Amino acid sequence: MGKARIGVYGLGTMGSALALNMAEHGFDVAVTNRETDWIAGFIAEAGNLAERLDPHDKIQDFVAALERPRVVLFMIPSGEPMDAMLREITPLLEPGDIVIDGGNADFHDTRRRVGNLSGSRLNYVGLGVSGGEAGARYGPSMMMGGDAEAWARIAPILTAIAARHEGSPCVAHLGPDGAGHFVKTVHNGIEYADMQVIAEIYSLLRNGLALPPAEIGALFEAWNEGPLRSYLVEITARLLTYADPETGHPVIDVIKDAAGQKGTGRWSVIEALRMGQSASMIEAAVGARSWSSEKDTRQAAEVVLGGTVSVIEASPEVLAEAFLAARILAHAQGFRVLAAASEDYDWSLDFATIARIWRAGCIIRSALLDEIAVACEGDLPRGQLILDPGLAQTLARCMPALRQVVCSAVHGGHPVPALSAGLAWYDSMRLGHGSANMIQAQRDMFGHHGFERLGQAGVHHGPWWD
Ligand code: 6PG
Repeated sequence: MGKARIGVYGLGTMGSALALNMAEHGFDVAVTNRETDWIAGFIAEAGNLAERLDPHDKIQDFVAALERPRVVLFMIPSGEPMDAMLREITPLLEPGDIVIDGGNADFHDTRRRVGNLSGSRLNYVGLGVSGGEAGARYGPSMMMGGDAEAWARIAPILTAIAARHEGSPCVAHLGPDGAGHFVKTVHNGIEYADMQVIAEIYSLLRNGLALPPAEIGALFEAWNEGPLRSYLVEITARLLTYADPETGHPVIDVIKDAAGQKGTGRWSVIEALRMGQSASMIEAAVGARSWSSEKDTRQAAEVVLGGTVSVIEASPEVLAEAFLAARILAHAQGFRVLAAASEDYDWSLDFATIARIWRAGCIIRSALLDEIAVACEGDLPRGQLILDPGLAQTLARCMPALRQVVCSAVHGGHPVPALSAGLAWYDSMRLGHGSANMIQAQRDMFGHHGFERLGQAGVHHGPWWD
């Protein structure tokens, strides 16, 4: 083998799948891993593709095996491990070489590293990669942040390995420095919200309508044929068909109701708040995972507070409409956060491109994203999807269902943090006149903070100060 076109550092689930994907598309790939004893096993399992893989134990040999200017893709845990690797590899690289971080990195870290590496004239790329192991192996959706020169160099590889939606590759150069990692973070935020909405709908079907898992699975399967079609609905339908080999019970019933999180959902919320936004459905999803992990407290509280729930007054058809409304609202909140970041960081994000590359390969791929891509091609002030005529029409049709579901769930004692957050946001946004005049008046009365007056410029004070 001559020099390799790209090097992949990190042969965990995602790194090894991406290396195989590249090899399958005809690229020679140098590979290495911190734990060098993994490397031989990876090559042994690569089958025919091994002939395009060039394994190395030492980072010096790995770097030397790369065609110049070099391209190194890191698929390692985010944060300090990436900083440590940069310290190790930077002295081995030359101006013009490209370092890609394909992990779920905090975009602030990406921006800092771009700045730090500019002195050594290394090109640092933050690449959001979505789709899990199967996506990485057979076609992920990828969100690239970095400069145009780096994109020109790596685009042929990324375009070849990306998922395709009706022929168009789901990868794009979205903006400079941290733009790609930020967009991936918000992707994950929407993923959190959509997963939480699915969990709430599942729980209402199960505990509010007393349907067994197999029937709920069949409903999700049917929903996957219509406007709710999506990867997450598809896997929900599938997972509900499985029985636990040990007990024979539905697998869903033997899984502990406590969900972990690695941080991207939380980052979405933190960044939204920092920019004066609130992605309340994502926040609800992050919060619900945190509450779920307090299993001991919940079990104790069930005894003290009473853990009963009652039947809900909503058919599966109504739940499906509520689900669609909630999904639209979660995306609308996510796109609003993207718009705020685009303004704050001067990224000029193209929302239509983002929606297009999310139509295949990534975890949130769905029929709705087709509609959102079209909506984003129109004039959407500040990325506000709720102002798109088509989506507004669907919302008008489905909101009565969301209202009915939330009312009935609340009445029956079912927790629906994401559904209710979506409804509250919708109701806040659809009223041209809200309740913040009262907040303004209180702030002025207790703190002389002043308020804006309808139809008059300037800062005013209430008569209580006269
Ligand atoms: C993806 C996923 C992927 C990963 C999440 C899980 O787009 O492929 O989002 O990035 O599965 O990081 O995150 P949590 O562990 O926080 O749920």
